[in-house]
Amino acid sequence: MKQTDLFKVPVYIHSVRDWETIKMYFLNKINWNDPECQDLMQDDYLNGGYSDFHKYYAQGRNPEYYEELMTILHEPLQEFASMNPGAFVSNAWCQKYPANTCHAAHNHGAVGYSAVFYAQLGRAHKPTSFFSPLIDPWSGQIESIEPECREGDIIFFPSYLIHQSQPHRAYEDKIIFSFNLHLSGDTISL
Ligand SMILES: [Fe+2]
Repeated sequence: MKQTDLFKVPVYIHSVRDWETIKMYFLNKINWNDPECQDLMQDDYLNGGYSDFHKYYAQGRNPEYYEELMTILHEPLQEFASMNPGAFVSNAWCQKYPANTCHAAHNHGAVGYSAVFYAQLGRAHKPTSFFSPLIDPWSGQIESIEPECREGDIIFFPSYLIHQSQPHRAYEDKIIFSFNLHLSGDTISL
């Protein structure tokens, strides 16, 4: 009897070169006290944290750090695009999670791929956990996996994949940058 897998969920992980040397310089550019990014009303799970998603991404605007972020992430973006021709980024956002905050399970729609760059991941923090789109046929359980990611890593995953940021207990905030990748029109075949 031959066993084979019908489906798979490819993700890509890349370590950003020299992130530790540019980390503080880059993170210090962000105004963490921006009153428009405290986000308490819209995302109470991030109480006390920072999110510029609604200020920039939801308004179709680029944050000030966008071009520099894309330069820092140039190598993984080029590599991802070489394996996924036509993939491009149009915008990005940043979230900072203090202790005991989380981001409930969600997905980014069926827009293509999404990415999370772990700009700061303290020792007690966990990277994103992902839920399988496939249900175990024997138990009915939905498996979840935390891929091994460290500070300075970026992970690309299908946007439809349900994921969450788990609550953590740590003095150091967790800081991530996230964005979606779409396919340019001339590469889409229907
Ligand atoms: Fe997300």
